[in-house]
Order: sequence, then C-alpha cells, then structure tokens
Amino acid sequence: RMVTKKSHLIGVLVPDISNPFFAQLFLGIQDILNKQGYVALLYNMEGDEKQESHYVEDLIRRGVDGLIIASSAFSDQSIYQALQRESLPMIVMDQKTETDMVDAVQADNYDGGKQAALYLQELGHKKAAVVLPENPTVNVRKRYEGFASVYGDELLVVNGELSTSGGQGAVKKIINSDITAIFAINDLIAFGLYMGLKEAGKKIPNDYSVVGFDDISPCGYVTPPLTTIAQPTFELGQEAAKMLMGRLNSPQKEPEEKILPVKLVQRFSVMPLK
Ligand code: RIB
Repeated sequence: RMVTKKSHLIGVLVPDISNPFFAQLFLGIQDILNKQGYVALLYNMEGDEKQESHYVEDLIRRGVDGLIIASSAFSDQSIYQALQRESLPMIVMDQKTETDMVDAVQADNYDGGKQAALYLQELGHKKAAVVLPENPTVNVRKRYEGFASVYGDELLVVNGELSTSGGQGAVKKIINSDITAIFAINDLIAFGLYMGLKEAGKKIPNDYSVVGFDDISPCGYVTPPLTTIAQPTFELGQEAAKMLMGRLNSPQKEPEEKILPVKLVQRFSVMPLK
C-alpha cells in the first residue's frame, strides 16, 4: 500500500445509527477528522453480519486510509485479513472489543455498572433487576458484571434488546417480581420501561427506581428525567479519531488501549426505598 496515495477517507462502522448514542459518537469522530482534512464515511452495520466482507471490500476499494469500528458485526478475522492484505490502520471501540492486534478505546463499562448498583444499594434497594440482551456484546456484559459484583444473588436478569421495545418487553417479568430497582443497560431500554410501566399502571420512581446507561440527550426531557450513567460519548469519538491519526503517522508502534471514565448523572427516576 503506497503511503503517498492518500484518499483522506476514513470508514466508520456503527451498529445502530438510529440510536442517538451513535450519532453523538460520530460527531466526535468527525470533529477531529475534519480538522485534520479527513472525511468520514458512515456505514450502519446492524444485523448485517453476512454482509460484513462486502462492506469491507467496498471500503477498501474506495481507498479508505483507515477504519473506526464500533460494530461487533466486524469479526476479528476480517480485521486480521484487512491488516494482512492492506495494512489498513484501524481503531476498535464500543461494541467492538479490543483484540491485541489494533488500538482500542472504551468507556469504563464495568465501573459504570458498579456505580449504578452502589447508588441504588445506598438508597436501600435490596432487590434489583437488570435488563440486557440475551447475547450481549462485551461492553454491555461488563456493565452487567459491574452491577452484579454488588447485587450478587439478589439480581433478576431480564432479557431485552438495546431498544425501546426491548425495555417495554421486559416489564411483564419485572412487575411479577418483588424487585424495586431496575438497571437498564442502555437509555433506550430505560425509555421502553417508562412506556411499559406506565401501561401497567406503575409509577417511576414511586413504584420502581430506574437507572439507565449512556446519557443520550432525551434523558433530560422524559418524565421523570432519567438518572443514568453518562458515557463521555463525544470524547470517545474524538479519542478514536485521534488514535487513528496517531496510527497513520506511526504505523509500527505497539497497539494501545484507552479507557475513559463514566459518571453517574442524578436526575429524578430514582428514590430511596421507604
Ligand atoms: O445505546 C447503545 C449502546 O450500545 C450504548 O450503550 C453503547 O455503548 C453501545 O454499546
């Protein structure tokens, strides 16, 4: 691959652009790339595992100078092949977890799950539920593990996809249990819980305390405003783009991993257990 033939195009692969989280992430990526004279090509890869090689071939044909991969649909094998054949610089992030082959940036997902659990426990909630996909990506599983490190056996696990309908579908199991607090593994699940619990005649936070994850912008506008674990989403995007720029300048350096901190944002969806 000739270094001199630069396209200044970077491929960005995300799993669900309809989720504001990935829009914000993309804005962070673009912020840095544009300042450096690069253009981002956005690909939504949700549910497209079979198409993966097609996407990659296409991006390579278009002559991208590098990839930022946030979708787990992009397999380690594809990464390996692209590295071997094209020596294409890549950053993996969010739903695509680190391989030891390439640079990685993540939020501290385990700590986020733990912070959510400690907060609820401190307010007297003894039994909690966590709503997450049946086959979670590694980043999401770490949130669960952090939460479970505090709640242990007193944890009800309910499966639901990372979407509002995933949250809505989880309500039936929850109202048939004796839990008082719910950790939604992302904010969209929390919004679905709002809808489902309302339909079931339940009130947040009086009947159930709810904590989300991500801090997407609607969190401040729903009723009640959602308490959540905030990811530094824009910064994660910026960091990924910076790492990629660094990699383009020094292709030979050792792969790096960066973990950015998360923080609890207290709004009004949680109250102490009476
Ligand atoms: O909301 C989408 C979720 O999927 C986020 O929590 C993000 O981290 C991603 O993995």
